[in-house]
Amino acid sequence: MSDDYSNVASLYDFLQREFPVEKLVAFIFRYFGRKGFRPKSVLDIGCGTGSFVVELCKKGLRCSGLDASQEMISVARKKSKDVNFFTGDMADFLLKDKVDLVTAISSPLYMGNFDKSRRASCFSSVFKNLNTPGYFVFDILNFGNFESCLAKKSRKFPITSKFEHEGVSYNTSIDYANPDKISLKIFKSEGNSLVLEQVYERSDADVLKRELLAAGFSDVYVTINKMGVHKDYLVFAAKP
Ligand SMILES: C[S@@+](CC[C@H](N)C(=O)[O-])C[C@H]1O[C@@H](n2cnc3c(N)ncnc32)[C@H](O)[C@@H]1O
Repeated sequence: MSDDYSNVASLYDFLQREFPVEKLVAFIFRYFGRKGFRPKSVLDIGCGTGSFVVELCKKGLRCSGLDASQEMISVARKKSKDVNFFTGDMADFLLKDKVDLVTAISSPLYMGNFDKSRRASCFSSVFKNLNTPGYFVFDILNFGNFESCLAKKSRKFPITSKFEHEGVSYNTSIDYANPDKISLKIFKSEGNSLVLEQVYERSDADVLKRELLAAGFSDVYVTINKMGVHKDYLVFAAKP
């Protein structure tokens, strides 16, 4: 299995080209406005190629981005000199200076390598590195994907498609290992070599809320983000 994004670092922005970054930032800040919360610093965990945190920079925040993949970070660094990008593990990190806001976008929390205990460890790291008051905001992809696929049980899996990027052609395959797991695979067409396999688990808003409360967060608000291609959970958790 290959869930290392290093293999797709040069491809990632193309794959995410329809992601509504600006709309998502505006939505998050409308929520903060209602709460009277004005963050001055942010850490984006699992920041990937940095598109989301670079957008946050436009709000005047002191920005940093952490990702496990050196290759993703290298692409991100080319986008902005104003963001402090560094490699690390979002399930276990310690910042020199705490931040007002931690974000995790495009579901790095629910990828194959995040089981319940890694998630707990991530929530605890985020909590420790937040100022008071502070917020943790993250999305959980594929909520809508699951619903629409379950509604189409008759559909034949895997669902396959093809795309081309910079003269290289790729095949994708989406499959359902069981009703609670979606696996997305991307292969280079030539040689059929696997470049990414990502497993997304079905998520449950009530379970998430319990886990966040157990980590010390309060005022946990889970909403459905309808801005992207699929409906996703968007979670706000406060450190009061
Ligand atoms: C789907 S991408 C999301 C990237 C970015 N947040 C965005 O919105 O486009 C998931 C990212 O999480 C990173 N990641 C996965 N596990 C990680 C971990 N334990 N610590 C830090 N980053 C991790 C991957 O390297 C990848 O860049």
